[in-house]
Amino acid sequence: MNLQGKVAIVTGTASGLGLATCRKLAAAGAQVVGFDLDQAKLDGVLGPGMDGMAVDVASDKSVKAAIHAVRARHGRLHVAVNCAGILGPCKALSKGQIFPGELWDRVLGVNLTGTFNVIRHAPRRPWPRTSRAKRRNAA
Ligand SMILES: NC(=O)c1ccc[n+]([C@@H]2O[C@H](COP(=O)([O-])OP(=O)(O)OC[C@H]3O[C@@H](n4cnc5c(N)ncnc54)[C@H](O)[C@@H]3O)[C@@H](O)[C@H]2O)c1
Repeated sequence: MNLQGKVAIVTGTASGLGLATCRKLAAAGAQVVGFDLDQAKLDGVLGPGMDGMAVDVASDKSVKAAIHAVRARHGRLHVAVNCAGILGPCKALSKGQIFPGELWDRVLGVNLTGTFNVIRHAPRRPWPRTSRAKRRNAA
């Protein structure tokens, strides 16, 4: 995979799938900007070819501003990968306790709305029919 000259954003970059993806894209030559909640944590894990930005993907305003900043800094954006996510498998009812509604709202806010915020703001409108830009979501 040769991504020389390509600009990528990856969410959830401070750990796990997002960090691994970020490293893979940077190793292939892309300039990668990682989005996660904590700037200090990002600075501690990201290496050469990777920049970190503190972004809350659940916030439309935060995502919009961050993508605007990436375009302002790099001029374009070719790849967007959504890896930010909270909570693994869980049960609606466990040991007599029902799954908390507030946590459900938070999970949807990050995993669903957060992914959609990036999908909405990353492409430059109108999305060209011939574009080879890529979006990927980890679920
Ligand atoms: N790791 C796996 O094998 C696997 C398999 C299937 C599904 N998943 C799902 O994929 C997602 C990521 O998994 P992971 O193992 O990389 O998890 P992880 O906890 O290692 O990484 C998730 C990252 O997302 C960040 N994040 C959380 N909320 C955010 C927000 N509002 N804005 C920006 N960043 C935010 C966290 O700070 C963290 O760095 C999770 O939802 C997980 O359930 C993971």
